[in-house]
Amino acid sequence: PNVRPLVAGNWKMNGTRDSLDQIKAISEGVKGDLSEKVESLICPPATLLYVATALCEDSPLWIGAQDCHQNASGAHTGEISADMIADCFGTHVIVGHSERRTDHAETDHLVRAKAIAANAAELTAIICIGETADERKSGQTLDILKRQLAGSVPDDANAENTVIAYEPVWAIGTGLTPTSENVAEAHAFMRAELTRRFGDEGAKMRILYGGSVKPSNAKELMSVDNVDGALIGGASLKASDFLAIYNAY
Ligand code: G3H
Repeated sequence: PNVRPLVAGNWKMNGTRDSLDQIKAISEGVKGDLSEKVESLICPPATLLYVATALCEDSPLWIGAQDCHQNASGAHTGEISADMIADCFGTHVIVGHSERRTDHAETDHLVRAKAIAANAAELTAIICIGETADERKSGQTLDILKRQLAGSVPDDANAENTVIAYEPVWAIGTGLTPTSENVAEAHAFMRAELTRRFGDEGAKMRILYGGSVKPSNAKELMSVDNVDGALIGGASLKASDFLAIYNAY
């Protein structure tokens, strides 16, 4: 790949102050030569964001958030703006995770607005897309990816401000993963779409794979063509598992 791969962890709604030990261990574990070649990121819940970034001050580990609001500020009770994430020294934000798309009915249009808000705050947006089991069974996977990329990725996306995360919904938290051939097909398709739309920037844009990545399958999944890292849920909660995946590079 033209840019450094990114190994990212999404803690979802898990983690209290006790879990900061794991972030500290990850921040120590990613110090070293590999950090020249591979970037690392943990997205803890927002409640831990500020203290987590403070813990990682002298580490190459980036800290990010799991969602942001599309507006810069205002009367949106319970929401968090991209500026607030940047204010806590967060550097990345996940937008459009399938759990947000399902639980909060987030549309491609909204996800794009969130990515624009993230970029305006100088955060890198990690835009998630992926097909459901039914969509895969009925042969619609590439159509879905095409539609989600077209709808969710802003027009001024580039390789710096945007990362794509391909997460087949049926592979999230299930222990199921697509075959390497299926991953290769999806990633080659997304690469072609991104390059067609964004030229060189699309050719360099990182496309992560997510969905049941664990230490035992990381090497195989991350070595597939056009896979530029991983977005890890469950296995990112334990420092030893996250570091084993990171060290598979
Ligand atoms: O954002 C992460 C993904 O949803 C993957 O979750 O690794 O627990 O399957 P998982």
